[in-house]
Amino acid sequence: MKDSFGREIDYLRISITDRCNLRCLYCMPGNIETVPMKDILTFEEIAALVRCAAQLGISKIKITGGEPLVRRNACNLIKMLKGIKGIEQVTLTTNGLLLEEMIDYLTDAGTDCINISLDTLDRDRYRMITGYDGLDKVLKGLETSLDRNIPVKINAVSVNWDRYFREEAADKTTGISNDIRGLISLSETKPVDVRFIELMPIGFGKDYPGIPHDSLIPMIQDSFTGMEKDSYHGNGPASYYHIKGHMGRIGFISAIHGKFCDSCNRIRLTSRGYLKSCLCYDKGVDVKDILRGEGSKFQMEERLLEGLKKCILSKPDSHSFSNREEITEKLTMSAIGG
Ligand code: GTP
Ligand code: 5AD
Ligand code: SF4
Repeated sequence: MKDSFGREIDYLRISITDRCNLRCLYCMPGNIETVPMKDILTFEEIAALVRCAAQLGISKIKITGGEPLVRRNACNLIKMLKGIKGIEQVTLTTNGLLLEEMIDYLTDAGTDCINISLDTLDRDRYRMITGYDGLDKVLKGLETSLDRNIPVKINAVSVNWDRYFREEAADKTTGISNDIRGLISLSETKPVDVRFIELMPIGFGKDYPGIPHDSLIPMIQDSFTGMEKDSYHGNGPASYYHIKGHMGRIGFISAIHGKFCDSCNRIRLTSRGYLKSCLCYDKGVDVKDILRGEGSKFQMEERLLEGLKKCILSKPDSHSFSNREEITEKLTMSAIGG
C-alpha cells in the first residue's frame, strides 16, 4: 500500500535476533545487553505478521539480525515465508561466517539473494574491526553461495579505518585505502556487487570517522578509469556504477549525502516485535502485544492489519541524520537490523 507521501511500501526488513557472533566496532563492540528469548518473536508469530503484510502489498522480505544465521533453524523461517502467497523474494543480510555450513539449508529454503557485510579483505584489519579472525571463513561462504548460484552482494560501511587505526592511506594520490581497493577488486573477478554504505549516526556508529560519499565516489572514479553510472536498481536504496571490465557493479548507499527517502519502500520489524516506520526514529507499532493478545485468529489478523497500516501511514517523509538532536532512535543497529 501507499504511505501518506504516495510511496509504495512493498519491502519489510525482519530482524530475527539481536545477537551476533562478531563484535564489529561500529555496531556491537562489546557484550551489550540482549533481548531475552521469551521477548523475541517466534517464527509462527513472524509468519502471521507477514501473511497480513502480504495482503497489504508487501512482496519483498529481508531477513537481518544481529546475525540472522545464529538463530537456530533460521532457514526454516525463510522457507515458511517463501511459501506465503504474495511474497516474491526473501533475501538475507549476514556477516557470512556461517554461510558455508548453512548453504544446503539456505539453498533448499529458496533464499533469493545474500548480502554479506565485509569491510576489508585484509586479514589483520578484519580481526581488528570485527574482533574475530574469520576472513577466510567469510570468503569461503561467499564462494559457496556463488557456486549455488545465489546472487551475492557485499556491504561495506564507509569508515576511514586508516585514520581510525592511525595508519597512512596506502594510495596517497587518491586517498583510497587498501580496504576499499581490495573490496572493489572483488567485483573485478567475481560476479558480486560491492556496495559502500555511508556510516549512519545510529548506535555506536556515531563515534567513528565515516567517509562521506560525496568525496568517496569521485575518489574511486579517479582511481578506476571507466567507472560509469549504471541504470540497474535493486530492491533497496543503492545507486550503482560499473567499472569497465569488472564482472560485478559498485553500489553506494548514501544515506546522508545522497538522501533516498523520497523513494523509500520499507518498514522494519525488530526481533522484539516492534514495527518501525523509519530507521531514524523510535516511532512505530508494538505488534508483539497484538500477536500475544487475547481474541480469535480473525480478530488478531484484523488488529495486525490495522497495526501495519498505522505504521505505514505514520512513516515520516525523511530521516534527520544530519541533525542529530532530531534522531529519536536509541536502539543500536544490531537491535534494528540495519
Ligand atoms: P537489497 O538491495 O534488496 O539487497 O536491499 P538493501 O540494500 O536494503 O539491503 P541491506 O540489508 O544489504 O541494506 C544495506 C544497508 O543499507 C542497511 O544495513 C542500512 O545500513 C542501509 N539501509 C537499508 N535500508 C535503509 C533505509 O531505509 N534507510 C537508510 N537510511 N538506510 C538503509
Ligand atoms: N551505519 C551504516 N551501516 C551500518 N551497519 C551497521 N551499523 C551501521 C551504521 N551505523 C551495517 C552493517 C551491515 C548492515 C546490516 O548494517 O555493516 O552491512
Ligand atoms: Fe525510509 Fe527512513 Fe530509510 Fe529514509 S531513513 S529511506 S524514510 S526508512
